[in-house]
Amino acid sequence: MSGRIFVCTTCNRYSPPPPGEPTPGSCLAEAMIEIEGGRKGSVAIRTVVCLNNCPKPCAAALREPGKYIIRFSGLTANDAPALLEVAERYGASADGDVPLETFPADLRSKVAGRIPPPVRGALPPVPEHGPVHDPVPALPGFGP
Ligand code: FES
Repeated sequence: MSGRIFVCTTCNRYSPPPPGEPTPGSCLAEAMIEIEGGRKGSVAIRTVVCLNNCPKPCAAALREPGKYIIRFSGLTANDAPALLEVAERYGASADGDVPLETFPADLRSKVAGRIPPPVRGALPPVPEHGPVHDPVPALPGFGP
């Protein structure tokens, strides 16, 4: 099973490099492509222009249909091996709910979002008394 990770190559938009030099986001993507290409891995690395996480560069996200979306911020090219490791686990999982405690330690604090997939393609019905807390299990280390 393959994984798929989206990497923003316009980070850091608030502190762009001198003309002709790569952005930190591009350096991260290139580091990942080099590692994955070298080992002929199964993770697809998709470069994108902005993931709307600009104030906390660099950004990347794991996303596949029917799975949790996991967003990362504050990344550097040094995080490339750890991101690929998590992307492989994400790709192999049924729902993308990769336990945080299995992430490489340096990556745990860089998880910026964990968004559950829609339930059967639709949001659950709103009860008569209005919206309520929808108890999605929190990862260890998250929540109250
Ligand atoms: S420029 Fe990278 S998230 Fe916006």
